[in-house]
Amino acid sequence: MDPRITDRLEELRRQLRHHNYRYYVLDDPEISDAQYDRLLRELEDLEARHPELVSPDSPTQRVGAGPLEKFETLAHSVPMLSLENAFSREEVLEFEARIKRFLKNDGEIEYTAEPKMDGLAVELIYEQGRLSRSATRGDGYVGEEVTQNIRTIRAIPLQLWTEEVQPPERLEVRGEVYMRLKDFREHNRQREEAGEPAFANPRNAAAGSIRQLDPRITSRRPLFFFAYGLGLMTGLPFTSQWEVLQGLTAWGLPVNPHLEKITGIAACWDFCREMEERRHSLPYEIDGVVIKVNSLALQEKLGIKSRSPRWALAYKFQPSQENTRILDIEVQVGRTGVLTPVARLEPVAVGGVEVSRATLHNQDEIERKDIRIGDTVVVQRAGDVIPEVVKVVSSLRRGSEKPFKIPDRCPVCRAPVVRSPGEAAHRCTNPNCPAQIKESIRHFASKGALDIDGLGEKLINQLVDKGLIKDYGDLFHLTREDLVPLERLADKSAGNILAALEKSRQTTLSRFLYALGIRFVGEHVAAVLADHFGSLKALADAGEEELLSLKEIGPQVAASLRAFFAQPGNRRVIEKLLQGGLRLQEKKGAGPKKLAGKTLVLTGRLNRFTRDEAKERIQALGGKVAGSVSAKTDFLVAGEEPGSKLDKARELGVPVLSEEEFINIL
Ligand code: IVH
Repeated sequence: MDPRITDRLEELRRQLRHHNYRYYVLDDPEISDAQYDRLLRELEDLEARHPELVSPDSPTQRVGAGPLEKFETLAHSVPMLSLENAFSREEVLEFEARIKRFLKNDGEIEYTAEPKMDGLAVELIYEQGRLSRSATRGDGYVGEEVTQNIRTIRAIPLQLWTEEVQPPERLEVRGEVYMRLKDFREHNRQREEAGEPAFANPRNAAAGSIRQLDPRITSRRPLFFFAYGLGLMTGLPFTSQWEVLQGLTAWGLPVNPHLEKITGIAACWDFCREMEERRHSLPYEIDGVVIKVNSLALQEKLGIKSRSPRWALAYKFQPSQENTRILDIEVQVGRTGVLTPVARLEPVAVGGVEVSRATLHNQDEIERKDIRIGDTVVVQRAGDVIPEVVKVVSSLRRGSEKPFKIPDRCPVCRAPVVRSPGEAAHRCTNPNCPAQIKESIRHFASKGALDIDGLGEKLINQLVDKGLIKDYGDLFHLTREDLVPLERLADKSAGNILAALEKSRQTTLSRFLYALGIRFVGEHVAAVLADHFGSLKALADAGEEELLSLKEIGPQVAASLRAFFAQPGNRRVIEKLLQGGLRLQEKKGAGPKKLAGKTLVLTGRLNRFTRDEAKERIQALGGKVAGSVSAKTDFLVAGEEPGSKLDKARELGVPVLSEEEFINIL
């Protein structure tokens, strides 16, 4: 074999693995999706010409096999135990008291504390560094073998890294498969649009995706993974859970960065409170904190009682659930004509936020849960997801509750409502329905789209109802004379709206594509398309084959794009926008980054940012945020009432920044 070919193959695989890791594990890509696709395509071409050189752990082999008839079972060599739960400070403190009694020792104990991911537990088995098999937790002893589905999760390496720590012959990695909230919402939106039933929560979405018999379906689900432990421990160099997690990281596995090594249970409780406060600002759902005794020798001593280890505890957050009553059920008409039933609730505080409405998804969902007007129900707020009704408290039924049926005419335009066979959604059949038009304008102006400040629901309603605009194509033709006479819109805010419109005329192709509201084109797909095609014209003229050559674009998306650009009406709207001064700019290249390669640690309370904002700002400048201070830390940012991290930083001579100094850097 020509060594130039084998060298190139290896080089491409190495680069693809590296960029995969940047994207799916660090969430910090170095190249654009289009550049990634080019590398992948080159590798695919090369492998197609030399099939004898294809190895099972090549980045092209994520979806290797065809659908299964059913899952095989796989026994865990070490049982996958459950965790004992604690629900209060007392119960958390009691955990340590129990350990000390058991050990007959009153010395200080070191722990690790990490978020408890709300997903699906799986075990990954690596043999000779290669992902060989994988199973769900099942009953703890025997799980379902889901290897071909696990292989499609790009955050999971098919091959372990061996540079720093040599993996053993056989390595059993345990962790959680999960779906991010943003991806969950987008995926559910697509399901609803396609008339498929929505998933109730990200955990069900993750579990349902892993339990697919066809790996091609799983590969299209946005799944992620965090490793948190090991099965079989023999022959490994680790002495603590902390070292285990660092080992996992060194092998290229994703480990949750919100992780701390903590001495004493009181400080663990502080960490629990801190995570509980921040849970709604994380990009995924967590339902608690897992506290583990750090020393593996101590873990061994403590052992197991019935089905859970004595050395670990799950502090479970207060559930963001409350009871309230359904006052009425209203029907909303979305951008694509889908009718969504929404419960109007007696207002109630859930997880610190007042909730007065909750989506009921669709008619099937209402019937499945047997929800009636007047019912007392359990409502839940998960992450920043729209609140939803979990179930009816049927013991509180009085007999006067009224069942609900989706109307057969659109509540806005009175056009007939249809339900296509096999779809869960009911749709309004009138493409000119004012509700659809208003929703599509609202989407056009929304944050991720053209981000037109001040163009909210009320103003859009007025503009459409008064006939000043017929679609979003008319927005850039609005004049001061149009706006000033509107109700409650004084001269000054008319000026603000015009200024916001002017600002939004200059935008990126990717935002614009998203703004168009094409079915199945979310923010991510829009970015992929913008990257690949570079111009609106190139995309509008693209054939099916070119669209399908992109790995993110499936037949459904391709058909939807073709249908959108084939409609003269849509082309006219775009033409109106261009005539109104729309200027699409190409993607800007990233400038040099001020904190590139630097690791920062945060401690204490910051006045100007939340922790997550501070973290985002640091990452935007190319820096990393770590959970604890070590010799590798470049700066400690110390807010008010800093914790022990400040002492540690002084001890190690790590430079300390005040909030003021930190802001100056930003
Ligand atoms: S450790 C013996 N760590 O919680 C200890 N579990 O009841 C084994 N989970 O379904 C579990 N995040 O999948 C551990 N950081 C974490 C976790 C975690 C979520 C899940 C786990 C299992 C359940 C344990």
